[in-house]
Amino acid sequence: MKIRPYQPEDAGRMEDIFLRAVRKIGREFYSAEQVAAWSGPRVSAERLDGLYSDGRVTFIATDREDRAIAFSDHAADGHIDMLYCDPAFARQGVATALLEAVESNARSVGIDRLFTEASEAAKPVFRKAGFLILRRRELNVDGVSIHNWAMEKRLA
Ligand SMILES: CC(C)(COP(=O)(O)OP(=O)(O)OC[C@H]1O[C@@H](n2cnc3c(N)ncnc32)[C@H](O)[C@@H]1OP(=O)(O)O)[C@@H](O)C(=O)NCCC(=O)NCCS
Repeated sequence: MKIRPYQPEDAGRMEDIFLRAVRKIGREFYSAEQVAAWSGPRVSAERLDGLYSDGRVTFIATDREDRAIAFSDHAADGHIDMLYCDPAFARQGVATALLEAVESNARSVGIDRLFTEASEAAKPVFRKAGFLILRRRELNVDGVSIHNWAMEKRLA
């Protein structure tokens, strides 16, 4: 596995990773109705490319053929929006390696706090990376109740 910056050609695979990760891994933690709301029409290759072309730092974990297998990001304020791993590569430390890259880059540009809204699936990954839980968040997505966790890691 290697970690490199985002390229627009990654967006199609990222959409696929997102959908399969939510539907397989997310389904272990959330109901079918919640997973359907989470994986609704909001994420597409076009939207991901727009998101990741806005200047935020994005890391792609790749296989031997340089194909995306997982991705994460951080904005200038330290917010981490996404952390998704292809289920075929799950539980091999890929997300942990991405968070290490995110933290290392954040430190190098002087960010003193990383923060995110972690799914139930991602909570243990962020905890293992040293993030603390701030609070449980109750959301309503298209009429469906779903929760996640506000988490942060102080870098200073
Ligand atoms: C969350 C996610 C990115 C983790 O990717 P990953 O590469 O499998 O994570 P890692 O291998 O680095 O896991 C690190 C540790 O976190 C914990 N962990 C990871 N996945 C877990 C799971 N499904 N259940 C319980 N603990 C888990 C374990 O302690 C693991 O260490 P171990 O395998 O040595 O026990 C992946 O499960 C995913 O894409 N989930 C669905 C989408 C999602 O919820 N994304 C987050 C949105 S905020």
